[in-house]
Amino acid sequence: MDWGMKNRMSRIIKPETGKTVMLALDHGYFLGPTHRLEEPRKTIEPLLPYADTIMLTRGVLRSSVDPGSATNVVLRVSGGASIIGPDLTDEGLTTSFEEAIRLNVAGVGISVFIGSEHERQTLLNLSELVNQGERYGIPVLGITAVGKELEKRDARYLSLCCRICAELGTHIVKTYYCDEFEKVTTTCPAPIVIAGGPKLETEMDVLEMTHSAIQQGAIGVDMGRNIWQNDHPVAIIRAIRSIVHEGNNAKHAHDLFLSVKDEETAKTANA
Ligand code: R5P
Repeated sequence: MDWGMKNRMSRIIKPETGKTVMLALDHGYFLGPTHRLEEPRKTIEPLLPYADTIMLTRGVLRSSVDPGSATNVVLRVSGGASIIGPDLTDEGLTTSFEEAIRLNVAGVGISVFIGSEHERQTLLNLSELVNQGERYGIPVLGITAVGKELEKRDARYLSLCCRICAELGTHIVKTYYCDEFEKVTTTCPAPIVIAGGPKLETEMDVLEMTHSAIQQGAIGVDMGRNIWQNDHPVAIIRAIRSIVHEGNNAKHAHDLFLSVKDEETAKTANA
């Protein structure tokens, strides 16, 4: 691996722990103004100190993130479909490598829709991105997307998807957590991060999912809604960080969540 690729990988996966907390903020690229991400700057700013990378589109990066911030960026470079359009899986490449370099990104991210009508197109898009990524020293995050078919998220399907992404040269794979998750991580030769999926009922659910994923071989999270749709986003991201980087269990992380939440509530009351 060349110096540039190694350097960018270490901007995403922290060398001190071999793990990462990525904050996913790219939902608007097909959902429009998602709940609690309506005004991206307001959502993003308080969370920046606690995210190893932010994952988003160039439009939101330019409009809503201060270029002076030390944040590492993984740029979403696929799109072309919307939640109200005919087919969410019909994605192409939206952003050039020249643009990714201009934005000084640590990596680029693309969805693949395996088993869909657009499987071939999205896998060839991923392969082309890996070709370009290898040329310029920019890691590629391959995302095993399921569109509206959330029920597809089982170990059999996700291990197939993750393995295909790794075979095509993806540097980091992003997938969903599922029962028997170890089957997914042990059969994928590339590092895996988990998405959070739709907001879960309780904070404990989020922390237990994160802990189980790490225990079963994930190197971190690339999580969105379960962080910024929480009423206490800073408290929950800090609790997640404590699991990923400090090896906390879900109970200790939940204690941290409660203490940060109380601190914040007191600050607001005294303001
Ligand atoms: C979805 O396609 C987006 O790429 C999100 O980044 C991804 O789903 C992770 O966000 P969440 O944790 O909200 O599922």
